[in-house]
Amino acid sequence: MAALKIKHNGVLGYFIEVTQQHADKLMTYRDEESRELFRHRQTMAGAVRFSTDELASLATRIAQSADGALMLERGLFDEMTALALEHADALGAIADALAVMDVSVALAELAVAGRYVRPTLDNGLGFKIARGRHPVVEAALLADNARGFVPNDCDLSPNAKGRLWLVTGPNMAGKSTFLRQNALIAILAQMGSFVPADSAHIGIVDRLFSRVGAGDDLAAGRSTFMVEMVETAAILNQATAKSLVILDEIGRGTATYDGLAIAWAAAEHLHEANKSRALFATHYHEMVALCERLTAMTCVTMKVKEWNDSIVFLHEVTPGAADRSYGIHVAKLAGLPPMVVARAEEVLRALEEGREGHQPLARIDDLPLFGAAAPMPKAHAVEEALKAVEPDALSPKQALEILYDLKRKLL
Ligand SMILES: Nc1ncnc2c1ncn2[C@@H]1O[C@H](COP(=O)(O)OP(=O)(O)O)[C@@H](O)[C@H]1O
Ligand SMILES: [Mg+2]
Repeated sequence: MAALKIKHNGVLGYFIEVTQQHADKLMTYRDEESRELFRHRQTMAGAVRFSTDELASLATRIAQSADGALMLERGLFDEMTALALEHADALGAIADALAVMDVSVALAELAVAGRYVRPTLDNGLGFKIARGRHPVVEAALLADNARGFVPNDCDLSPNAKGRLWLVTGPNMAGKSTFLRQNALIAILAQMGSFVPADSAHIGIVDRLFSRVGAGDDLAAGRSTFMVEMVETAAILNQATAKSLVILDEIGRGTATYDGLAIAWAAAEHLHEANKSRALFATHYHEMVALCERLTAMTCVTMKVKEWNDSIVFLHEVTPGAADRSYGIHVAKLAGLPPMVVARAEEVLRALEEGREGHQPLARIDDLPLFGAAAPMPKAHAVEEALKAVEPDALSPKQALEILYDLKRKLL
């Protein structure tokens, strides 16, 4: 019968649907034992629907088989879980082995791609890195197609110039990068990796201490400066002669003299008491005076070139000290308004003169705010004049005069 369809819906379940024209045949159909086979359920426009016992039992079987499948799946899963538990030790060992292989292969690949070398490790107090690099900064520069990374030496060994290096130099010169790259090289070497350098000789470090960055822990009720001091305290209390310490600009979070005093005393303690191999970066170039007194301390600085009233960072660590901090140069590079830069230069001059004399702050107050050193820029004057103009109130002749006037202001 071409017009017979078997369908399913939420109300009737499975049913047989035929057109009106065939419906009578099904209504009157009886089997050999004269039982009604098709039960009438619903009459629609042009279609009549019937159900049968056979369809009903099929529906039940379909529903049951879904349950059956779920049960089967659960059973298989339980079986697998039990098997996994039974072989837990072996599986764990496989996972361990794969993890070791994964890390080793990744490090090997990195060593080849990044031209790393095998470090020499012993139980001495040496720390001699030739042309070390910061793996992450180097990769970032490479990805940016920027200038290449400048490798730097570091030697804190007992027979070198000093085990405590005081690193000075302006912001952005590469101090933090230098500190971290040496700490990273120590970590890489001691975890069994090759290191990003031309050669590395490291006396095994008992602990690596680092105090870098300014992470606030406000949630715990501690200010940036408090965090900084807590971390510095931990280092000064625990570092030994076998430790490696990097201290990045401690004392930065408080007033200048406070900060300088703390950094100064911390450096002395590190030198006299802890005797650790250490890199100490600071923007307080006053501290270079310590290098003369502390025999195992040596001063290095990040090389910069002054060029056209601006500075170029060479990222090269060289012996010596920064003669000034270049903060205003860096501020200028960062785009501080020219008037602010000029004013800062004035204030700095007054402060520096005040170092010999007295009351520098009173003298700064005497400086005219918008003095001759900072005349109003020409373009700005034109802008101001334009703001005052009301075009609708001008005659053509007045407009022309204003135009001449604006032009004069630019000369
Ligand atoms: N050795 C280097 N070679 C090339 N670029 C470097 C080097 N060291 C630092 N830089 C660049 O200078 C930026 C600032 O360095 P950073 O170490 O933060 O300076 P500082 O701590 O002196 O303010 C880095 O993000 C990096 O782009
Ligand atoms: Mg820094």
